[in-house]
Amino acid sequence: GDPDPVQDFCVATKVGDGEAAAFPYLPCKPSSSVISDDFFFGAQAHGASTDNAMGAGVTPGNVDAFPGLNTLGLSINRVDLAPGGVNPLHTHPRSAELVHVEAGEMLVGFVSTDGTFYSKVVKAGESFVIPRGMMHFQYNVGKSAARAMTVFNSQLPGVVFAAQSLFAAKPEIPDAVLAKSFMVDVEIVKLLKSKFRQG
Ligand code: GLV
Ligand code: MN
Repeated sequence: GDPDPVQDFCVATKVGDGEAAAFPYLPCKPSSSVISDDFFFGAQAHGASTDNAMGAGVTPGNVDAFPGLNTLGLSINRVDLAPGGVNPLHTHPRSAELVHVEAGEMLVGFVSTDGTFYSKVVKAGESFVIPRGMMHFQYNVGKSAARAMTVFNSQLPGVVFAAQSLFAAKPEIPDAVLAKSFMVDVEIVKLLKSKFRQG
């Protein structure tokens, strides 16, 4: 997780253009102007739309959305999945993830560095943990909408989506590199790029 704090709190202030941010955290707002609402985050009372190609909506609660988390070493997302929806394969370079299902049932899985796939159908009230950096997903295997809160031991876990990072990188990863890497024809790489690249 993140480094330990050296003060009770450090509610983040926005860093202006061209201004350097403090390392490893964002600059603190003066304590004299910190109010109760700085420790409150209401944006996850409702879910994001799942009306998209993945049938998934993630409402992030990292330090960018919730500045009161700065220096506290944790954050939280809300994940909504339509029936059959998937929060597609991705990793968090800076955090483990605790998936706590609140409604419905989802298949949650990750692959470890030795190539073992660990997965479980997780139902309302149950949890599953994704170790830091492992490729993972959540997939709604139930008949109704599913919802999970995902909790991280980092204020800014970072997210690397597998398909996007390979097939939608800007500028493009050369087709030949992807074709060779996946042992497929360049045509297949072009097809995948056409699905993930926009603009
Ligand atoms: C789920 O995997 C999430 O990153 O919120
Ligand atoms: Mn995740």
